[in-house]
Formats: sequence, structure tokens, C-alpha cells
Amino acid sequence: MLNNLPYFQRHLNDDLEKVNVVVNRAVQSEVALISQIGTYIISAGGKRLRPIITILAGKALGYDDPKLYSLAAMVEFIHTSTLLHDDVVDESELRRGRETANNLFGNAAAVLVGDFLYTRAFQLMVGSGSMRILEVMADATNIIAEGEVMQLMNIGNTDITEAEYVQVIQYKTAKLFEAAAQVGAILAGATPEQEKALKDYGMYVGTAFQIIDDVLDYSGNADEIGKNVGDDLAEGKPTLPLIYLMRQGSEQVAQDVREALQHADRGSFDKIYRHVMDSQALSYAAGEAEKAVKSAVACLDVLPDNEVTRAMRALAEQSLARVS
Ligand code: IPE
Ligand code: IPE
Ligand code: MG
Ligand code: MG
Repeated sequence: MLNNLPYFQRHLNDDLEKVNVVVNRAVQSEVALISQIGTYIISAGGKRLRPIITILAGKALGYDDPKLYSLAAMVEFIHTSTLLHDDVVDESELRRGRETANNLFGNAAAVLVGDFLYTRAFQLMVGSGSMRILEVMADATNIIAEGEVMQLMNIGNTDITEAEYVQVIQYKTAKLFEAAAQVGAILAGATPEQEKALKDYGMYVGTAFQIIDDVLDYSGNADEIGKNVGDDLAEGKPTLPLIYLMRQGSEQVAQDVREALQHADRGSFDKIYRHVMDSQALSYAAGEAEKAVKSAVACLDVLPDNEVTRAMRALAEQSLARVS
């Protein structure tokens, strides 16, 4: 999604190559199953958005030291561990265009290797030598866990408000984007004002990103998103398009959505999909994502105007148009 930006064309592959060196080394373990499952999910790709954000946040302030790549790898490890756990919880079967680790290796192995990657991330963090970075990541991972549990408590909840939904996605997803940007800023010796701007930028991009992810769970296609569509409904997850329908749809539509969420099975997907498509649900959600992107872009105003901050603006804007 980022290929047509000058900064990315010139530097991104080099940056990610450096991150990959750390990732490939850090995924190794004397326990063969760990390296096997870790490599399985990491080599499947992924957009590497969070490490990119760490690198851009650091470079926006003129910082470019190997420590940045190590922290970027750390952020990707946290992300990957949440994916391993999330797919167990969501009973998902497809991730990054491949069968999920839980499907292939079983839930127990997926959870335990998720724990390995998570703790390896903390080892990488310690390497930064920064207590503040440790603090930011300890707080962020704690909030992510709270977000995932809040989401679990809201399965089948047809009364969830939009504000509650936003809180869940800010905890489970935006928090890591926020931390990714913030640790890059801290490493670069940001002023408090710059750090806050980068942190907020990450939070807004992450919010938009998850709203679009929830849209793609209806409008996307599995080949492009690398995940099955309809996972959210099958799980009874009340995401923004459905919250919109329960609020703005006719009584019949709202009732259909409530029943589908409560029964949580794939059988009702076609019916709900039609309701979603016959309404403004997806454009409403996309509009909310767009507001978050505008806020993200506005955060960049206090930063130097350079090639990197321009790339950050483009990254935020392109997160709206993503199809994968
Ligand atoms: C998936 O994140 C989990 C969400 C927060 C929606 P990504 O879409 O960034 O996953 P990869 O890393 O590119 O596979
Ligand atoms: C992802 O939420 C949140 C985390 C990974 C913590 P989703 O459940 O929507 O993500 P996908 O759709 O499985 O990637
Ligand atoms: Mg999921
Ligand atoms: Mg999703």
C-alpha cells in the first residue's frame, strides 16, 4: 500500500531489510517448534506497518542508528504475538494468506509461541537501555490485553455504543501504533511536544486502521486481505458497520443484526452482508476512519517538514484506501 511514495521507494526496502536481520535472528530458539512456528508466521509477510512507523518517527527527527531497527523489530514481535493469540481467540483459519498457526499446529502451540515472541520483544526492549521505552511498552501491552478482554466481554453485545467500540479498538490496536511511534520518538531524543505529536499520530492512524479492518471484514476479499471475510460476524463481534445498522437501520434490519450477533455463526453472513451493502454502514465507518486520519495528519504540523514527515502523512492517508 505504500509503494508509490518517494521515501518508501528509496529507503523502505533497506529499512525493512535491517529490521528483518534482527527479526530473523531473534526468532531463533534451541526449541525447534518455536523457530518453526515463529518463522512460519513471520515469513508469511504482513505489511510491517508498526515497525515502519517506529522507523519513520525516529527518522522524522533525524535519528538513524541500529537501535531503531532493533526497536522496530521488537514492535513487530509484539504485534506478531498478538496475532498468534488473536487467531486462537477468534478461531480464525487464514492469516497473511496462509493457514493460521492454530489451525496448523494447534491452539496450545500457537499460544505458547506467542508467549515466546512476546517475551523476546521485552528482551529486545531492554537492549535499548531506556527505562522510558520499557515503561511505554509495559503500559501499552497491558492496555492491549485489557482491550482484547473488553472485546471478549462485548461478544454478542447488541447494546454496545460507538464510544465503547472506539475504546476497544484504541486499546487493542491503536495502542500499539501509538507506542510504535512513541518509542521511535524517545530514542530520537524528541522534545515533549514532538513526542506527544508522534504518539498521537500513531494513536489516530491505529484507530483508522482498525475501523478499515472492520470494514474489510465485510467488503474485502480473502485473496487480498489474506484473512477470511466474515470472521467478525461469525464470532459475534459488534463492529462499527453493525453498530451503525442497529442504530440507523429499519427495525427489521436492526433485529436481523441483533439476532446474527447473538447467534454468532456464518449462516447469517449473506443476509447481514446484504444489509451492510444496501446501507451507508461502510461509508459511515470509512468517514469515521477519515476523521481519525485527518487528526493524525494534523499532529505532524509541529514536526519538521521533511521527506519523512511527508511519508508519514501519506501513510496515514493511504490507510483509508488499503485493500490488504
Ligand atoms: C492485523 O494487523 C491486526 C489488526 C490490528 C487489524 P495488520 O493488518 O497490520 O497485519 P499484518 O501484519 O499486515 O499481517
Ligand atoms: C486485531 O483485531 C487486534 C489484535 C491483533 C490485538 P482483529 O481480530 O480484527 O484482527 P484480525 O482481523 O484478526 O487481523
Ligand atoms: Mg482476529
Ligand atoms: Mg479484523
